[in-house]
Parts: sequence; structure tokens; C-alpha cells
Amino acid sequence: MSARIIDGKDFASKLRARVAAEVARVVAASGRKPGLAVVLVGEDPASSVYVRSKGKATLAAGMESFEHRLSADVAEDELIALVDRLNADPAVDGILVQLPLPRHIDERRVITRIDPDKDVDGFHPVNAGRLATGLPGFVPCTPLGCLMLLKDVHPNLSGLDAVVIGRSNIVGKPMGQLLLAESCTVTMTHSRTRDLFAHVARADIVVAAVGIPGFVKADWIKPGASVIDVGINRTDAGLVGDVDPTVADVAGAITPVPGGVGPMTIAVLMRNTLVSAARREG
Ligand code: GUN
Repeated sequence: MSARIIDGKDFASKLRARVAAEVARVVAASGRKPGLAVVLVGEDPASSVYVRSKGKATLAAGMESFEHRLSADVAEDELIALVDRLNADPAVDGILVQLPLPRHIDERRVITRIDPDKDVDGFHPVNAGRLATGLPGFVPCTPLGCLMLLKDVHPNLSGLDAVVIGRSNIVGKPMGQLLLAESCTVTMTHSRTRDLFAHVARADIVVAAVGIPGFVKADWIKPGASVIDVGINRTDAGLVGDVDPTVADVAGAITPVPGGVGPMTIAVLMRNTLVSAARREG
């Protein structure tokens, strides 16, 4: 049996088209374009590529893009002052500070300085708390994109066994919360988990976000399970996921790398920015 390949690229482009159509309606009603501010500190090549893609996608959705590039040795207080200005700027609906930040900057201080109601990345602890308690807020883009793809395969996730591999604040933890809110039975696993394969073997849904190429093996997977591969690992062989390609022979549905989860992140960022603008127009 060969798995259904979940086409994240196609799903993301349709989501972006829906967002653009809704942006056009918001602009017609309010006379104001939603705006996204993206802050890049330093010149990390991967981060530069992401920031450029986010800016392009923002303009393509009919929104305003504000790009702020700061040098790698910028003082932490200068970055904080920029966040304060963006918090106060009525033209800015969403603020995203690209991570990772240089080592001399306290990432937590910067993230917690962003107004939670402009935190379209969903990284502020207030938004993490809202997600955990079922209040409206912003959900991190990558796990929300994963959930959208999963719901395309399983419109009703209730009662399914889900295993999340990886416990990062950006992907693993919010993914677990989202699946719990869908009434999955969620198992969070990580680098200290014993007998990981035994947990994965019971799962109807597996989300892999560990950052290790080909980590999840075909003989761990329950036949027919849905597998979401969040890994984007740059190797000599090109971009590869956290899931071994042979998993596609066992799974019922699987996201490819590239073209699976990756394109969803920016599409959901556009969606979160639109939602922020709509909430702020009130
Ligand atoms: N670095 C890698 N992914 C992300 C993301 O989704 N948001 C931010 N701010 N930085 C990142």
C-alpha cells in the first residue's frame, strides 16, 4: 500500500488565495490595508530567505509589509525599542521577530515585549496560555498548518491516538495542545522518551518535529496512520524531513518534504495577520 501524499503546497496556495480575497473585503470596508512587520536581526542566510518570502507573501495577499533589518550586533535595548514602536503603530497588525536571535539578545525578553494581540507568531506566553485554556488568541503558524492538513484527512479527529515527537515551544507543545483541543488522546514524546517506537506504533496520527533527518522509521508506524513531517533538514542530499521516505509504504497519508508542512507556515502567518486586522477593526 502506498500512502496518500498530502499536498501542502496546493493547500497553502488555496489558503493564501482565500486570505487575499478576504483582505480585499477588509480593505474595501475599512479603507486600510492589514500590515505585518517582520524584524530580522543579522544575516543568517536561512532566516534572510524566510523573511524575504514572508514579505513577498504579505504583498501578494494585498497587505502592507514592513521589513526591519538590524545588524547582528544591535543592542538588545534597541530591538526592544523597535518592538515598542511597532506595538504602538496603528498600521501594524502583526509583529514577527525572526528567530533565532544572536546569542547576546535575550529571546524571551523580546518575545514577551510584543503586544500579545499583535503576536501573529503565537509565541508570547499569553497566547500559549490562551491556547492551553481554550481562549481565542494566536496559535503558532507551523502547528496550526499541520492541524489544517490533518483535518483535511480526518475531518473528525475525536478519540484518535496522536503522538507528537518533539517538545519545542514553537511546534511540539502547541501541536499537542491543538490535538488535545480536537479530543485526540495525545502522547508527547521527546529525546528522553523510553521505547519511542512503542508509543508511535499505537498512534493513528504521528507528528514528527525533531530536526533529525529520517528519524522516524517505517517499522514504527501503524499501517494506515497519518504522518505529518515537520522536519526541514538541509543535508548534502538536499532538503529532507524527519521521517524516512519508506514510511510512505506503510502510512495511510503523509506530508512530503518539501511541499508538505513548509508552505503552510507562511500561509497561516498571512491568515493570522488578517485575523489580527479583523479583530482590531472590531
Ligand atoms: N524561525 C523559524 N521559524 C520561525 C517562525 O515561524 N517564526 C519566527 N519568528 N522565527 C522562526
